[in-house]
This record gives sequence, C-alpha cells and structure tokens, in this order.
Amino acid sequence: MSQPNEGQDRLDYQETADITEVHAAIAREHAEPSADVTPIPTWLSLVCAAALCWAGIYIGIFHGGFNPKVFNEYESNPSAFFPLPGNAVATSGGAAAELTQVQLGEKVYKEVCQACHQPTGLGQAGQFPPLAGSEWLDGSEYNEKRVVAIVLKGLKGPVTVKGGAFNGAMPGQEQALNPKKIAAVLTYVKQAWGNKGGEIAEAQVGAAKKEFADRTDQWTIEEIKKVPLDAKLEGAASPAAPAATQAKTETKPADAKPAASAPVVSTGTFDIAKSIANGKGIYGTTCTACHQPGGTGVPGAFPPFDGSEWVQGDPRRLVALVIKGYAGPITVKGQAFNNILIAVDTQFPVLKENTNLADVLNFIRNSWSNKSDVPVTPELVEKVRAEFKDRVEPWNAADMEKTFPAAK
Ligand code: HEC
Ligand code: HEC
Repeated sequence: MSQPNEGQDRLDYQETADITEVHAAIAREHAEPSADVTPIPTWLSLVCAAALCWAGIYIGIFHGGFNPKVFNEYESNPSAFFPLPGNAVATSGGAAAELTQVQLGEKVYKEVCQACHQPTGLGQAGQFPPLAGSEWLDGSEYNEKRVVAIVLKGLKGPVTVKGGAFNGAMPGQEQALNPKKIAAVLTYVKQAWGNKGGEIAEAQVGAAKKEFADRTDQWTIEEIKKVPLDAKLEGAASPAAPAATQAKTETKPADAKPAASAPVVSTGTFDIAKSIANGKGIYGTTCTACHQPGGTGVPGAFPPFDGSEWVQGDPRRLVALVIKGYAGPITVKGQAFNNILIAVDTQFPVLKENTNLADVLNFIRNSWSNKSDVPVTPELVEKVRAEFKDRVEPWNAADMEKTFPAAK
C-alpha cells in the first residue's frame, strides 16, 4: 500500500506516544453494530410471564361476576385470596372497622346520594329533603329499620323533614347497592354533618331486605310509620306484605323467587317464568329510571305500568309501541301525559335482542297488580319488527288508533 505523502507527517512513523494508548483509545470505541438476531433475555421473558399471571389472577378475583349490570369491585371476593383490611367492614366490629365503614359510606354517598341530597347534605328546598340535621336519621322518630327500609325501597309522597315540606320520589337503592354498601352509607349519613345517629350493620340491612322482599313499591309516609319503632329486625309484619302477597298469587311469578312458590306456566316451549325472572333484571337497568321500580311512573311526567292498559293489553301493540317510541298526548289509566318515549332499543342496545325485549315486557305485564295471559315471545317481537320496519317516526295517538283500532 503505497501512500502519497510518506515521511514527516505520517503519524505512524513519527509519533512517540505509547502505542498501547492508541490501542486503548480504539478499544474504547463502540463495537460495530451487529445484525444478529438477539434472543429475548431470559429475565424479560420471566417478567412478562409474571405480568400475564398477575393479570389472570387479577381478573379472576375482580371479575365482578362478569356481569355488566352489577359490575363493581365490591361484588367480587378478593378476601378469598387476600385478607384485605377493607373486609373488616363486613364484621363491623372494632374501631378500625368502623372507620373503614364510614369511608366506604362516604364514597357511596358521593356516587349515589349526593346528586339529590347534595354534597352538603342539605338537600334542595322543595325538591330533595336534607339529611344533615334530619330528624329521620337521629333515631328519635324513624328508627334504623325505617331508614333502612327507605333506602332499600325508596320513598314517595308528601313528607316533612326539618319543618320543610317535600313531595318527591326517591328511588329505592336495593338494586344498585348491596347490603354492605347500604349499611355503610347509612352509617355515614347518620354521622356526617354533625348528625348523631348510630351505626347500621350489614346484617341489619340483610334482614330488612329479606323481610321486605315482596315489596316492589316505594314507601309512603303512612306505610313507613307502620313499621314498628322497636328496632328489632325480625318477624314483624311488613305493612306492604298483605297487598304484595295477594298480588303475587297464582300465575303471577313476578318477583324474585318465582320458582319456589309460583307455578311455572309454560306456553309451548316458551318458559314464561324464566322470561319474567330475566326481564326483572333488565327492567332494573332500563325502564326503572323513568317508570320507577314499582312501575308507578311519575305523575305528570312518566306514565305508570302498574295497571296500564297499554302494558297489559294487546302484546302486538305493546311491542310496536316500545320499538318505535311514542310522542305526544297519551292516556294511561285515565291520566293524561304529553311527553316522549324514545324507541327503547335505541336507548338501550341490550333490547335489540328480541329475547331481552320480550323478557322485559313479560316482566312488566306480570308484575305489581298486572296480569297477562298471553306471553310476549321473541318470535312475536321479530314479527312486529318486520311488520313496522318502514315506520321511522314514533307513534302518536291518531296513528295508534288507526293501526290498532280494536285493541282494548
Ligand atoms: C334521585 C334523587 C335521590 C337519590 C339518588 C337519593 N335520594 Fe334520598 N330522598 C330523595 C327524595 C325526593 C326524598 C323525599 C321523598 C318524598 O318526598 O317522599 C328522599 C328522602 C330520603 C330520606 C328521608 C328524609 C330525610 O331527608 O331524612 C333519607 C334518609 C334518604 N332520602 C337517604 C338517601 C340515601 C342514603 C341515599 C343514597 C343511598 C339517597 N337518599 C339517594 C331523593 C333521592
Ligand atoms: C327516559 C325515560 C323513559 C324510559 C327510560 C322508558 N320510558 Fe316508557 N315512557 C316514557 C314516557 C315519557 C312515556 C309517555 C310518552 C308520551 O307521553 O307520549 C312512556 C310511555 C311508555 C308506555 C306507554 C304508556 C304506559 O305507561 O303504559 C310504555 C308501554 C312504555 N313507556 C314502555 C317502556 C319500557 C318497556 C321501557 C324500558 C325498556 C321504557 N318505557 C323506558 C319514558 C321512558
């Protein structure tokens, strides 16, 4: 290799620096990048494997029953694996547990109650009664059982709280909150804002829930006052029981435990009891908000289901009404309403499923005092959908009259 300018300026020949230093400098340079495929380091694989295991275990524990309707962390049971401190709430013993219960109660209050009763607990004049300083909560007039009953089933009609008059409707929280949460939130409201009420145990709520199991309606003040004042949560007759049990006789497997008492009525292969039971859950997440848990509706705003001729009448008309919606004046049980029902499956995609729609309709047709001999089948829903597939606008009184003239 002959070089163009050999001699003085060739560093190689003239330099005096220790040659090993030059090598050291070269050695300090980074190695040429290599194009080899390097295997994932073992430690990284192990970390990934551990993360996957953790994810599996996490889902296993906190799956909430995989139920979209009730999903929340309290439904699953982490204590089966890990003794978390929060689980002390269930026992509601000692001081530490009490603190946790109040904290849980505060959380539930913020999630559920404060929208109406306000963060301050002061409510809203004329609309939502105050909880702060409420004589309903200090145990003097409305003992624990009465208050538990109110939160479970709701309350409607005229009431007086701290001298203020209210005439609203509080929805029952039984479907939304389990006994543990109800006990916690009541303990919280009985102690927050300077209130001097006591503590409510999960077991008390559980007992009350069982006792009032037959009741679907909200309480009125007269009814709630019939709940005896002595705080024992056992055997005492529920004022609603007679009415509710009467309504639940023979072919009315409407509520909770149809299998045990009510005969299972089958129409061909269609299991109406199963349909009603399934419909109950769907009702709780769809229609309840407007038509109310007891099917009572809200006077002037949302028509009732209980006793409604639309609900119990011609099933074809009922299906047509709910899948297309209804706008303008409508008379239900002799009361006039003038509002809008948006097609229910647009509001609630779960009802696009014919079976689900049939189930919720079977539930409202056979609950409270309602009774219908003809079940709504998924096939009927399908048929009515096809029949009115070209209709885009909601029903109105004139169209209904024209299309279903003979309907009673
Ligand atoms: C949708 C609004 C709403 C929500 C949510 C709500 N309430 Fe109420 N609550 C009311 C109304 C309205 C009344 C009065 C009912 C009447 O006028 O008959 C009431 C009454 C009460 C009463 C009896 C009267 C009083 O002020 O002491 C208590 C106790 C009560 N609610 C507790 C709760 C608790 C606890 C929660 C949360 C778990 C809750 N409420 C959630 C609207 C609501
Ligand atoms: C957002 C509030 C709202 C929801 C949710 C709702 N409805 Fe309605 N519903 C109304 C209103 C308002 C009317 C009355 C329409 C009018 O006045 O023209 C009505 C009327 C009705 C009627 C006819 C009148 C009667 O009471 O018999 C039926 C049947 C009905 N709804 C069924 C349902 C079903 C089934 C669901 C649940 C799948 C449901 N609605 C959910 C607001 C609602």
